[in-house]
Amino acid sequence: MKFLIINGPNLNMLGIREPAVYGAQTYEYLVEKVRAHCQNMGVQTEFYQSNHEGDLVDRIQSAYFDGTSGIIINPGAYTHTSVALLDAVKAVGIPTAEVHISDVGQREDFRQISYIRAACICTITGRGLDGYCAAADALYEYIKSKGEKAL
Ligand code: DQA
Repeated sequence: MKFLIINGPNLNMLGIREPAVYGAQTYEYLVEKVRAHCQNMGVQTEFYQSNHEGDLVDRIQSAYFDGTSGIIINPGAYTHTSVALLDAVKAVGIPTAEVHISDVGQREDFRQISYIRAACICTITGRGLDGYCAAADALYEYIKSKGEKAL
C-alpha cells in the first residue's frame, strides 16, 4: 500500500507560522512523524507540498498513474476556495482523507466551507500533527475493508 501525503500553501512554514495555531514543529518533523507511523503499518509514503493550486492538481492527477492507494491531504487555504482540488480527487477516484491541524470548525466563518470534503472518506480536524496519523489509520482501514491487499 502506498499513501501520498499532500500539503498545500503555507504548510512548508510549519514551526514559523502562527505557532499558537499550528504548533512549534516543522514540516520536516511532520514528514518524519507520518513516515514512521505509516512504516509501522507497512505502508509506503510519498510527500508533496506546494503553494500553487495547479501544482496540487497535477500531483493528484499523477497519483492515478503511480500506484498510490490513498491520499492524505491538507489543502490549507485552498480547502475553502478550490473546486479544482475537489474535481481532481473525484477524477482520480483514489480514497482520500482530509486533514486540518487546527480546529477549523471553531475558527472564522470563511473556514467553515470545505469543497474537497465532499470527495473525502473522512475529515480530521483540530488534532495537530497527530491528525495526519489518524488519517493514515482511517485510510488504511477503509482500503482494507474495500479489499485491497496491504503490500
Ligand atoms: C489549515 C486550516 C486552513 O483554514 C488554513 O488556511 C491552513 C491550515 C489547518 O491545517 O488547520 O492553511 O488547513
